[in-house]
Amino acid sequence: MAVLEIVTIPDAVLRRKARKVTAFDKEFQILVDDMVETMRAAPGVGLAAPQVGVSLRLIVVEFGDEEDEEVPKKLYIVANPEIALASEDKVKGIEACLSVPGLVGEVERHNYIMVKGLNRQGKPIKVKAEGWLARIFQHEIDHLDGILYTDRATRIWQPKEDEELALAD
Ligand code: NI
Repeated sequence: MAVLEIVTIPDAVLRRKARKVTAFDKEFQILVDDMVETMRAAPGVGLAAPQVGVSLRLIVVEFGDEEDEEVPKKLYIVANPEIALASEDKVKGIEACLSVPGLVGEVERHNYIMVKGLNRQGKPIKVKAEGWLARIFQHEIDHLDGILYTDRATRIWQPKEDEELALAD
């Protein structure tokens, strides 16, 4: 496994619509493993393939319980993710992005979503996500369409050094 370089704005790959994953071969498995390692090293709670310069519809997310730190983190690997269901209720939260260094922003997201996609073996999976996990998935899936959180933010600012970042991916 290897820690990959995270690309930052204004790299064009971040603005491209990524292509679907069609091969779940050895090369793809290496990319998945490298993205997981890169996300953990950052550290971040999610990463989309365009953030490592690969224009593919692949995201990795690792997140625990937002209330309880004792609950072990869960790793999600989703190829070709699509939001199949989204709640009407939306919530505002603070986001940051490894590809947009030095900024945070307030973004409104669906509070609940259901994501359909494929696992690393190419088998169909569904993920139900609520709250922060739903936010992370929406942020990562946006990356696959060339959308950055700054496009959706109602406010963007430079965090103070002691300001805790709620979300970095
Ligand atoms: Ni991001």
